[in-house]
Amino acid sequence: MKFDTPAGHNPIDRMAVVGHPHDRIEGPLKTTGAAAYAAEHHHEVENSAYGYIIGSAIAKGHIASLDLSAARSAPGVLAIVTAQEAGKLGKSKHNTVKLLGGPQIDHYHQAIAVVVAETFEQARAAANLVLVEYTCETGSYDLAEALKSAPYVDSDGKQGKGAPSVCRFGDFEAAFDAAPVKLDAIYTTPDQSHMMMEPFATIALWRGDELMVWTATQMIDWGRTDLAKTLNIPQQKVRLISPYVGGGFGGKLFLRADAVMAALGARAVKRPVKIAMPRPLIPNNSTHRPATIQRIRIGANRDGAITAMAHESGSGDQPDGEPELAVNQSKLLYAGANRLTSMRLAVLDLPEGNAMRAPGEAPGMMALEIAIDEMAEKLGMDPILFRVKNDTPVDPHEPQRRFSQRNLVRCLEEGAERFDWRKRNPQPGQTRDGRWLIGLGMAAAFRNSMLISSGARVRLKPDGLIIVETDMTDIGTGSYTIIAQTAVEMMGVPLTQVQVKLADSNFPVSSGSGGQFGAASSTSGVYAACVKLRESVAQRLGFNVYDTTFADGMVTSGNRSAALIDAARAGELSEEDAIEPGDLEETYQISTFGSHFVEVGVDAYTGVVRVRRMLAVCDAGRILNPKSARSQVIGAMTMGVGGALMEDLVVDKRRGFFVNHDLAGYEVPVHLDIPHQEVVFLDGADDKANPMKAKGIGELGICGVGAAVANAVYNATGVRVRDYPITLDKHLDGLPALI
Ligand code: MOS
Repeated sequence: MKFDTPAGHNPIDRMAVVGHPHDRIEGPLKTTGAAAYAAEHHHEVENSAYGYIIGSAIAKGHIASLDLSAARSAPGVLAIVTAQEAGKLGKSKHNTVKLLGGPQIDHYHQAIAVVVAETFEQARAAANLVLVEYTCETGSYDLAEALKSAPYVDSDGKQGKGAPSVCRFGDFEAAFDAAPVKLDAIYTTPDQSHMMMEPFATIALWRGDELMVWTATQMIDWGRTDLAKTLNIPQQKVRLISPYVGGGFGGKLFLRADAVMAALGARAVKRPVKIAMPRPLIPNNSTHRPATIQRIRIGANRDGAITAMAHESGSGDQPDGEPELAVNQSKLLYAGANRLTSMRLAVLDLPEGNAMRAPGEAPGMMALEIAIDEMAEKLGMDPILFRVKNDTPVDPHEPQRRFSQRNLVRCLEEGAERFDWRKRNPQPGQTRDGRWLIGLGMAAAFRNSMLISSGARVRLKPDGLIIVETDMTDIGTGSYTIIAQTAVEMMGVPLTQVQVKLADSNFPVSSGSGGQFGAASSTSGVYAACVKLRESVAQRLGFNVYDTTFADGMVTSGNRSAALIDAARAGELSEEDAIEPGDLEETYQISTFGSHFVEVGVDAYTGVVRVRRMLAVCDAGRILNPKSARSQVIGAMTMGVGGALMEDLVVDKRRGFFVNHDLAGYEVPVHLDIPHQEVVFLDGADDKANPMKAKGIGELGICGVGAAVANAVYNATGVRVRDYPITLDKHLDGLPALI
């Protein structure tokens, strides 16, 4: 089903089931431990051996010698696979850096070997007996230093290809010079790690030349394609299964070393091999959100109208990597006739930088939305009124393109009302509650919403059961439930009569989970398949397709009516289709909007920051399931607090690695850090987005949170920190006097 005209009235609009806060249908399996995650498929795979990955101890250079003899004769060891044993591996599409290093080393903790043994402990013990000698080379690890000579690039990380690397509209320099009120400031965001609860994990099993892989992934089809490419085997010979995933946040978008090394290990020992990556290996072995250094300049008239806006960002990555797209939102969020955005990309020899929840916008909004707060203060305007004043109904770079829907102002105003914003003292550092300095801050939220091709198969069984099959993943987001709700709405059966099967590469290829496109795209694919199934049901019953309704287990056309199950009596009906995006995104800018409000207390003596309450108001089209959607947003808000106050992969600039590579040193919020969160969804349905009229919320929920916290901290203390995370050392000296 091609989606190239706005959705008209369709069966989803009934919203008998879609749009209701259903509990997760797989919830009981998870709470009872019956849901098997990647490393837990003991029923399907017996007799697994254990693999332990050895990561490089240097960041750049090569392996001078590798002595495996002691490890090979250690108890329980079955095999050790290095690049030499593995032979020539193919280069997968989505990985910038090879997943198995040696002799050349590209980054610290790049996998250089897997030790396979009878038990995990034996594999780990033997791994410590592997003797590696390295020849080190000088690497580039300091972003600020490397950016001094880094080229401008477009969004693909290329110089001079495709879109211009410096994007201009109007005459920024002249307008900025002439502006009566202006801001010019630098903001920095650090490297961050996904730190999802479930580590990278895989069980690999060869049956002849066919490879079965149970692995933790967000994207089944990418994983299958890239694993086949890496191992130089046909894609049809690889099957990937990933029914439950314990979080990904972008870290599990791509094939990783656990899957490759488990497959190589299993081939070597002719037995299934299981690898669960130890936490301390993850931050340097896998991808991370790259650090940014961003410069923002804004010029405005005294009435608050923005006349000039420039956002320039620099980030780094391995050779042939891509920039962090931190300037994306600055092209679309606010009006202003003269604009400039640019990105520079430095070559770094740190681990590969790549997507993490709301790549681009999350760090971009952390900077932009502080800048907007600073500008409002310079203008003596309330920060909400300043944003409302500069709202735009069109893409400022292409004024003929309208937003399909844009309710930013409503989000801001509704948030202000609910959060009691008028009680905020615009004078910072003035409000006390005992030992706490109290501050209120807010920020806009913004992220684009994409429709990605997504397929599904829907089967009506003779016993009336409806089975939905798609390779879509559920990474903790609620995919099972919203897909079931979609099939229920379309076929008019109770929820108990629908079975959802996900994340098996034998099923039709879906959007997968990423970029906040998963919910809307995958349910649209299921919608498309259900439209076909409805047609074949109508045909079997001899009904006219166009006026047939499906409700309460009955199919009705005019004055004729039959039980749905009657259509399958002669045999199962099975239909497959996919949603395919058309060109509506060229005519309309399809985005999601919101507002974040935060109250913090800052200890007047120690500078410790505590979040006291948070509110998000979201404008994201139709909300398919307000309960799972709310969970997504509160999770994103929590992650945003981590980004604002705690998360920071600290770079050892001499040796080139992330020092705090475990959960003791890399801090993320815990329950005690997050006392009260409220989420409000505006009513809406965006008919330009997809047939479900739904958009993404999982990344919208984090965009702007960091800045809202930062702005609240500033309101509490009067000290403006532009360097994330906002730890107490950065404002302690400037706190208000204590009498
Ligand atoms: Mo997302 S960072 O595309 O999982």
